[in-house]
Amino acid sequence: MAAEAALLVDNITKRFGGVVALEGVSLLVETASITGIVGPNGSGKTTLFNLICGIVRPDSGRIFLNGVDSTGKPPHEIARLKVGRTFQSLRVFKHLTVAQNLAVAGTGMGGDVSGKIGEVLRFVGLEEKQNDEAGSMSYGQQKLLAFGMMLVRDASLILLDEIAAGVYPDLVAKISGMIRELQSKGKTFVVIEHDIPFITNLCSKIVVLDAGKKIAEGTPAEITADQRVIQAYLGEKKRAR
Ligand SMILES: Nc1ncnc2c1ncn2[C@@H]1O[C@H](COP(=O)(O)OP(=O)(O)OP(=O)(O)O)[C@@H](O)[C@H]1O
Ligand SMILES: [Mg+2]
Repeated sequence: MAAEAALLVDNITKRFGGVVALEGVSLLVETASITGIVGPNGSGKTTLFNLICGIVRPDSGRIFLNGVDSTGKPPHEIARLKVGRTFQSLRVFKHLTVAQNLAVAGTGMGGDVSGKIGEVLRFVGLEEKQNDEAGSMSYGQQKLLAFGMMLVRDASLILLDEIAAGVYPDLVAKISGMIRELQSKGKTFVVIEHDIPFITNLCSKIVVLDAGKKIAEGTPAEITADQRVIQAYLGEKKRAR
C-alpha cells in the first residue's frame, strides 16, 4: 500500500454566515512535496489553512494528517501532529530580540531548545541579528524570523501563507532555496502565494481556488495553460496591498 499522504482534505465546506468561503474542496498532498495554492483575493486560501490548523471548524468534510483524522481537533492538538504555519500578516514580537522571538516560539517543545534556535538562526541567516529587536529589522528580515519561528517547532507539514509577499526579489529567491532544501530533507509544504512565477518554479502541483471552489489542479505547465485559470486569475493584476 502506498504511504499515507501528508495531508488529505476531503470535500470541505466552510461558511461564515452568508459567505461560502470554501465549497466542496478536496486536496491531496504527498509527503515531501511542495504544493501551491493560488486564487484571487477572498477565494478561500487562508480559510483552507485555518481549517487544517484547527483555527476554524468545517461545516462538512474531513481532514486527515498522515492518515489521522484531525477534523475538528483544536489547534494545540493539530500542532502536536507536526503541522506548522506562517501567517499572512506578520506575527513577530517587535520589542523582543530575534533570539527571544525564537525562544518564545519554542516554548512548550520540552527539553533544551537552544541548540535548535542556533541551528534555525544559521539556517535563515539571522545569526548576526540575534540580539537585535525584531522591530528594528526590515520587513523581509522579519518574515525570515517568522519562518524561523515556525521552524523551531520542527513541523513536518508546513503551511506558508504569503511568506514571499512584499519582500525583495533576492529574499524571495532565498526563501525558495530554503523551502527546497527542507523539502529535500523530507518536509512537506503547502504554499499560498499570489506571485505566479514563484509558485510555478517551486511547486510540483498547483491548486487554483476561485470563490471558494477548486477550479483547477495540476502541474505548473497544466495550470498556466488552463483557460479557466487564466480567466479567473492569471490575467488579473494582483491588488495593491
Ligand atoms: N473568520 C471569518 N469570519 C467571517 N468571514 C471570513 C472569516 N475568514 C474568512 N472569511 C471570508 O471568507 C472568504 C475567504 O477568505 P480568505 O481569507 O480565506 O481568502 P484568501 O483567498 O486568503 O484571500 P487573500 O488573497 O485576500 O488573502 C472571504 O469572503 C472572507 O471575507
Ligand atoms: Mg489569505
